Amino acid sequence: MKNTIVVGAQWGDEGKGKLVDVLAEKSDLVVRFNGGGNAGHTVMHAGETYKFHYMPSGMLHKKTCILGTGVVINPKDLIAEIESFTATGHEPDLKISARAHVIFPHHQMIDAKGGGKIGTTGRGIGPTYSQKASRINLRILDIIADDAVARIKEALKDVREMLIADALFSADEFAAYCESVSSEYAEYGKNFKPFVTDTEDLVRVATIAGKSVLFEGAQGTLLDLNYGTYPFVTSSATLAAAAFVGGGAIPGVPIRILGITKAYTTRVGEGPFPTELDGDAAVNLREAGHEYGATTGRPRRVGHLDLYALRYAVRISGIQELAMTKIDTLAQVDNVKVCTAYKIDGKRIDYFPADAPTLEKVEPVYTDIEPIQALTKEEWIGLQGASKDQLPPSIKNYIKFIEDFVEIPITILSHGPERNETIVF
Ligand code: GDP
Ligand code: IMO
Ligand code: MG
Repeated sequence: MKNTIVVGAQWGDEGKGKLVDVLAEKSDLVVRFNGGGNAGHTVMHAGETYKFHYMPSGMLHKKTCILGTGVVINPKDLIAEIESFTATGHEPDLKISARAHVIFPHHQMIDAKGGGKIGTTGRGIGPTYSQKASRINLRILDIIADDAVARIKEALKDVREMLIADALFSADEFAAYCESVSSEYAEYGKNFKPFVTDTEDLVRVATIAGKSVLFEGAQGTLLDLNYGTYPFVTSSATLAAAAFVGGGAIPGVPIRILGITKAYTTRVGEGPFPTELDGDAAVNLREAGHEYGATTGRPRRVGHLDLYALRYAVRISGIQELAMTKIDTLAQVDNVKVCTAYKIDGKRIDYFPADAPTLEKVEPVYTDIEPIQALTKEEWIGLQGASKDQLPPSIKNYIKFIEDFVEIPITILSHGPERNETIVF
């Protein structure tokens, strides 16, 4: 099987973790290439629920799992995640890029102070990536070095004035912080040392040997720093292209790009959301889909499927096929509609607005969809191996409508959170 990139085609939480778990069975390596602990990827298998924030969702298949160079890592949180996974009887086979950047407590403090207007996850993601771009941050290779304590203290000099000016520390507090955080992080470095390697080279060697590499994106295309709904985005690239930069996917080697979309739309945090529902309709969909954030527990904003935004995501990310999740949830609500166009001042537009205030004021144009037939778990299981034509007409028609609009096929349909609640066409 050739290499595959899995990316979110909406604003995150599309079900990437579930699909990566499904696809990991036939993969040799699974690689995270962007984001950090802002991600919350849920895998449900054999009645157990696993929430991965760092570790790739291929872990349950005992595959070699990689945190690539594009990922930002809070060592304390990653160690806690490894320990809780190990406590459930699993043995993680994890490799960490020496070049991945490190999240420190002061990044989280800056995020906590300034992240409110975006509604960030508070995990220190933006400040870490911005100090990476400013070339003043430390990487995993620094905290595993023999002189890690000195390297950390030296790097902290670059942020001292800013942190004191922002009233996050007094001068005395900062001096104490330097002492404590440098020894704490050097200790994490000792823990990490056995896992750290040149992960891109592992991917290269595996690819050349004909092995199959699965790249797991975090967040979603509409949260991409360059092409998402800026400034209401995350601080990394989330497009499929990010797998080449942050994960070691090799340009020119054939690759399958699979986008994940829910059968409707959700968003966590602030920012424009043209098809957002409110009132009882929102409550019904949120409760039917248990739409609460896997990382922060915040209620997710919910809305109709926005095909206009989805088609933009497909085009900008180069998505070749889609997996659609949560069709079972959509079957539990009334008044299903999809958005097929945006209007501004009564006129249809033919572009996806780059400007957030413009996107705030677009008027979605809807097409009514026949109610999606609800099936029992047994009826769904009876459809394992079915072709699209063998699906109940309302589901078959919904898939066809979406495929015609976004101009790529839906090749996987997910009808529940468990691994086996999946139909591959
Ligand atoms: P991710 O961030 O893209 O991995 O998605 P999350 O894990 O944050 O959120 C997706 C949620 O939907 C998780 O709770 C999954 O267990 C759940 N899920 C995934 N696919 C399906 C599906 O087809 N049906 C239902 N009912 N739940 C699903
Ligand atoms: P997964 O991988 C949904 C959102 C936050 C906020 C914005 C910026 O589980 O799909 P950040 O903490 O990244 O600086 O927050 O991005 N966000 C997500 N929303 N799923 C995610 O990840 C997200 N990661 C970040 O809610 O609006
Ligand atoms: Mg999530």
